Amino acid sequence: KKVAILISGGGSNMLRLVEDMTGDHPARPVLVASNDPEAGGLKKAADLGVATAAVDHRAFRGDRAGFEAALLKPLLAADPDIICLAGFMRILTPAFVSRFSGRMLNIHPSLLPKYPGLNTHARAIQAGDAEAGATVHEVIPELDAGPILGQARVPILPGDTPESLAARVLVEEHRLYPAVLRHFASDDCRDG
Ligand code: GRF
Repeated sequence: KKVAILISGGGSNMLRLVEDMTGDHPARPVLVASNDPEAGGLKKAADLGVATAAVDHRAFRGDRAGFEAALLKPLLAADPDIICLAGFMRILTPAFVSRFSGRMLNIHPSLLPKYPGLNTHARAIQAGDAEAGATVHEVIPELDAGPILGQARVPILPGDTPESLAARVLVEEHRLYPAVLRHFASDDCRDG
């Protein structure tokens, strides 16, 4: 299976996914693409020998369809079986998402269906939740929804800040996403 990974920043989740796709893993990374040409993850991917692409969403101010058409070019050229969103911070249109229906994954830093959207850790702390975590789910047009493929839970500790909680969750993300992708890529009987 061929995997393309979309990032917007440092790409720590992308890194773990790429590092896991070796040996008997049923998938290989074929592209890392970003909406930000300055994304730190692009260099990390290139250093690991993975092809990269960048489409600056700021060059398409307000023209979401134009941005996505530009992003589709390297994506379709790489012809991935699976797309992983990993710290990708742009909302994709239903038209884009539906092209990869059933084979696009995302990691979201909350225990969905709680806290879709942004500032998830601050919201969990504010709500007085005992635990927080991350979710890997299939991407559907509705934001941060779609079938849940795996979750990881961490305790919220007294005195936690959004930053301290995010750091605890990130450690679990780096374990969860590779595990879910390995399963998804092996179980899946997609053609191609
Ligand atoms: C992580 O919290 C992830 O859950 C969210 O983006 C953040 C940064 O991810 N989607 P990464 O370090 O760029 O992979």
